Amino acid sequence: MTDELPVRPLEELRRRRSAKWTKYPSDVLPLFVAEMDVDLAPPVRAVLHEAVDASDVGYSSAVPVLGEAFAEFAADRWGWQVDPVAVTAVTDVGVGVVELLRVLTRPGDVVAISPPVYPPFFDWGPEAGVRLLDVPLRHDEEGYRLDLEATERAFATHPAAYVLCNPHNPVGRVHTAEELAALVRLARLYGVTIVSDEIHAPLTLPGATFTPLLTVPGAADVAVSVVSASKAFNLAGLKCAAVVTGSARMAGIVDEFPPDLRWRTGHLGVIATVAAFRDGRPWLEQLLTTLDARRTQLGELLRDRLPAISWRPPQATFLAWLDCSKLGADDEPQSLFLAKAKVALEPGTRFGAAGSGHVRLNFGTGAHVLDEATARMAAAVAG
Ligand SMILES: Cc1ncc(COP(=O)(O)O)c(C=O)c1O
Repeated sequence: MTDELPVRPLEELRRRRSAKWTKYPSDVLPLFVAEMDVDLAPPVRAVLHEAVDASDVGYSSAVPVLGEAFAEFAADRWGWQVDPVAVTAVTDVGVGVVELLRVLTRPGDVVAISPPVYPPFFDWGPEAGVRLLDVPLRHDEEGYRLDLEATERAFATHPAAYVLCNPHNPVGRVHTAEELAALVRLARLYGVTIVSDEIHAPLTLPGATFTPLLTVPGAADVAVSVVSASKAFNLAGLKCAAVVTGSARMAGIVDEFPPDLRWRTGHLGVIATVAAFRDGRPWLEQLLTTLDARRTQLGELLRDRLPAISWRPPQATFLAWLDCSKLGADDEPQSLFLAKAKVALEPGTRFGAAGSGHVRLNFGTGAHVLDEATARMAAAVAG
C-alpha cells in the first residue's frame, strides 16, 4: 500500500450528492467548497455502517464520549490537557461561534475579525446581532500573519469579542505560539474575549506546529475554542462540533447556551467524530502525507503552467490562496476560470476586500484532478 490515500475516478466522485458535486454542471471540476475527495477513514465508515445497519439513527448522546474522545486526541496530538467535562457538543462550528457570540455580546456590540477570512465570519457576527470590526491580517513578502499592532489599536476600542481563525483559512497560516501569547496579552489587557475557531487544527501539515489557543498561558480565562473533526475527517454533513473551555469563567458562558441546543447535534456526527478522534489517527497521518504531496504537486504545476499566479504554500489546510492579480485587470479571476476552464474556485472577494484578484483552490483531491484542473486553467489563461 502506498503512503498516499487514493481518490476515486471522477465518474465515481460525481455520483456524490453533496453540495460540492451538485452545484455545477458535470463538466465543471469543483475545487471550491472545503470538502475533500478521499474516502472516509475506515474506523469512521465502520461505525456509520454499524449504526445504519442497526437503525441507530435517533437523537444524539454526546456526553461523556465526545469530551473523552476529544481530550484523548488533543493530548496525543498537541499535548493539550482538556477536561472532558469542558467539551460541549454543538451542531457545527458556525452554530458554536454564533451561540458564543449571543452570550458574549449585546445587540449593537462590536466583534473583531481578521480578513481575508472564511466568508461566514462576516455572517456569524451579524447573525448574533453585532457589528464587525475588520483588523486585516498583515501581508508582506513573508506572507500573511496577525497584525498585532492593528489588533492592539482595535482592542483599545473594546470590542466585545475577537473571532480568531487558528489555523487561518484561506491563507493557511498556523499562528505561532509567540503570536498567540501576544494576542492573549492584549485580550487580557483590554478585556476582549477570544473565540478561536480551530476546525483546521488537525490539518496542520508537515513543517508547521499548531498551538491550541487554550494552551497559551493565561488564555483559558479569556478564550474559548471551537473544534471539530469535520474538516480533517470530511464529516461536514453529519453535523457535530464542540466548544471547549478551560476555566470556570468561560464554562459559565457555555452554561448560558439555550437548553435545546443539546438536541441539535447529529447522532451520526457524534459517533463518527468519536471514532475519528479515537481510532482515526493512523489514517490522519496518511491524509497529511497525501495533502503534503498534493501541496508539492500544486506548486510544481503552478510554476510550470501558470507562472503568473503567485502563492505561498499553506502551513495547514487543503486550501491554496492564489494571487491571480498579474493575470489582468479582471477583479474576479474566479469567473474566468469557471467560464473558460470549467474549474470552480472560491472567489477571493468572498473573504473580504483584500481578496480581490485572488481565488481559493481546494487541493484535497486526487493528483489526476489537480493535473486536469491546472491544465484547463493554463489553457484558459493562454486563450
Ligand atoms: C475556518 C472554518 N470554520 C468553520 C467552517 C465550517 O464548519 P462547520 O461546517 O462545522 O460550521 C469551515 C469550513 O470550511 C472553516 O474553514
